[in-house]
Amino acid sequence: MKKRKAVWGGRFKSGPTESLRAIGDSLRIDRRLAPFDIRASIAHARMLGKRRIIPKRDADAIVRELTRMFDDVLFGRRVITREDADAHEDVHSWIEHTLTERIGAAGKKVHTARSRNDQVATAFRLWIDDSLGDGLFKRLVPLVHALLRQAATSIDVVVPAYTHLQRGQPVSLAHHLLAYAEMFDRDARRLAACAVRNGRSPLGSGAATGVPHRIDRAATAKELGFAGPSANSMDAVSDRDFAAEFLFALSLTAVHLSRLAEDVCLWSSSEWNLLELGDSVSTGSSIMPQKRNPDGAELTRGKTGRVIGHLVGLLTTLKGLPMTYNRDLQEDKEAVFDAYDTVVMCLRVMTDTIGESRFRPEAAERLLKKGHLLATELADFLVAEKGVAFRDAHEIVGKLVRRLDDEKLDLSDVDETWLAKFDARFKGCAKWLDFRRAVDRRDHVGGTATRQVKKQLAAWKKRLK
Ligand code: ARG
Repeated sequence: MKKRKAVWGGRFKSGPTESLRAIGDSLRIDRRLAPFDIRASIAHARMLGKRRIIPKRDADAIVRELTRMFDDVLFGRRVITREDADAHEDVHSWIEHTLTERIGAAGKKVHTARSRNDQVATAFRLWIDDSLGDGLFKRLVPLVHALLRQAATSIDVVVPAYTHLQRGQPVSLAHHLLAYAEMFDRDARRLAACAVRNGRSPLGSGAATGVPHRIDRAATAKELGFAGPSANSMDAVSDRDFAAEFLFALSLTAVHLSRLAEDVCLWSSSEWNLLELGDSVSTGSSIMPQKRNPDGAELTRGKTGRVIGHLVGLLTTLKGLPMTYNRDLQEDKEAVFDAYDTVVMCLRVMTDTIGESRFRPEAAERLLKKGHLLATELADFLVAEKGVAFRDAHEIVGKLVRRLDDEKLDLSDVDETWLAKFDARFKGCAKWLDFRRAVDRRDHVGGTATRQVKKQLAAWKKRLK
């Protein structure tokens, strides 16, 4: 077996078996932590020098070389290759070995007063913090913009609002689209709450109990942007609640995306025919030449399962762990990276899908013609203008609907004259038999009235500025 560079070889006569290496090696996955682990190592080495825990000269050499490595990694001048992945156990040992190769003996001092256990807990938090802005917020905002653009042109498009997947009441299509904008806005806030800015730095916790040197944890925490050092070293190296919370925030974002995706699938079906998917966001069938399939939306809906799976997976990994660090914890990164990549992909796909498709107002009109959509409205007419108690009004309209069904009619097929013959109390209801008017009567905060939807749109434009 190829000789490899471990950071713990001293007490062993032989190296690990191929299988143990295979199960334990993580550089292929945790190489994404490289810039963050280097940053943390720089802060650590600088502190070691200031406190004279290692000679100032060595600390300076370490900081200088690590800064160079940070740039090399960031600008792609140094990529972690397959050979690296074969030769090193994880990103932490890779960084230490590379450093020592470059500056010699001084490099070996970087691991003074720390352990990979506090290192990985620190670097992983920094990674999560970094993934929020450029990764997630930068992709959530265009999705909300795409929804707002569609909403702006569909304020006057009235469609059925469904409950139980049954047509219920008329609603402005813009109101429906803005419901998703609200969900994604809350997702952004939930993700923001995962930032390390509010968190505590594990650095200095050592393997589990702290380190026997006069370290300055406040200084390293500050340099890395944490609110301060963690209060308990055992907690700091062994919990992954921050990763689980991030996975939950990602899962909920994925669930919201999945529900939007399901709506897109329904809207673009022949049954609804309400949304025409753009050519660039739909796919054909290998056998049915007429097909235009919503694959992007379906895959978004499908991939949500694995994002949720990662959350459940990590919680399951954590639930039986004895204190403190256990190698099981290494599973956290693959789960978070994959969930993050998946959500970023789905955000992009759904932004394109919403942006590149067109709603068909003609179809909306057709959809309103079935489902007795104004039944509630008619009951409210009896309440508002005839002084009937709502329960009685519900009963009267219920009987009316039964009669319409018997005669194979929809409420939209009949007029006031027909209704007044069925029950004299319907005299004067003509004004209530109008979809647009029904929408506009819901004129209160949170309602679907045109005035309210316009207000919401204006508020959204301000909010996104
Ligand atoms: N790759 C490890 C992880 O992700 C780093 C910590 C290893 N610590 C140890 N004591 N083996 O958890």
